[in-house]
Amino acid sequence: METGKTHFTDPMTKHRLAVFASGAGSNAQKLIDYFKTSPFATVALIVCNKAGAGVLSIAEKEGIPSLLIEKEQFFRGNAYLPQLQEAGIDFLVLAGFLWKIPQVLISAYPKRMVNIHPALLPKFGGKGMYGQYVHEAVLQAGEMETGITIHYVDEHYDNGDIIFQTACPVLDGDTPEVVANRIHQLEHLHYPRVVEEVVRNLEQTNRD
Ligand code: GRF
Repeated sequence: METGKTHFTDPMTKHRLAVFASGAGSNAQKLIDYFKTSPFATVALIVCNKAGAGVLSIAEKEGIPSLLIEKEQFFRGNAYLPQLQEAGIDFLVLAGFLWKIPQVLISAYPKRMVNIHPALLPKFGGKGMYGQYVHEAVLQAGEMETGITIHYVDEHYDNGDIIFQTACPVLDGDTPEVVANRIHQLEHLHYPRVVEEVVRNLEQTNRD
């Protein structure tokens, strides 16, 4: 890799994805499974900020290297950019990662970082809107539908350009857990496929 460059330009090379996750990692698992047979990309690294998180066991079981990161270096140091470059990572996929992404990484991966949010942004996004809080807010607002949003990541929470959204109904008697399950199903179905599409489009951009 050229010094100072994060991105592959060889269209024959598989893109190397780093999946950032803080929790159980069900989306990470789906991404790993999907990209096992993709000719375009592979999950090459799991990045996690929480010791003992389920996603770390998934990485171990799958034989994928993982990087356990800590606050000081992430926010006030080099944001682990050298380690990402060392691992040849050219695309970042956030899947339930609860820390804000520092500017160092935003600048190093322009339009090469995506997130999934468990609601229809711009509704129910922003600081503090994660996990059950999102579904509780959706129910409290009396929404008839909710859904998922896949978007590029910029310096603000849940703010980058939207790539894909799809909705599901909110039904009478739904609890936050029921909504969360419905949302997870949508996420598992669409996230890997949409990531692959974004990554494939990079190849077009690289050739321009
Ligand atoms: C997902 O609902 C995702 O939208 C949100 O965090 C959750 C992560 O779930 N950002 P999992 O760890 O992938 O199971």
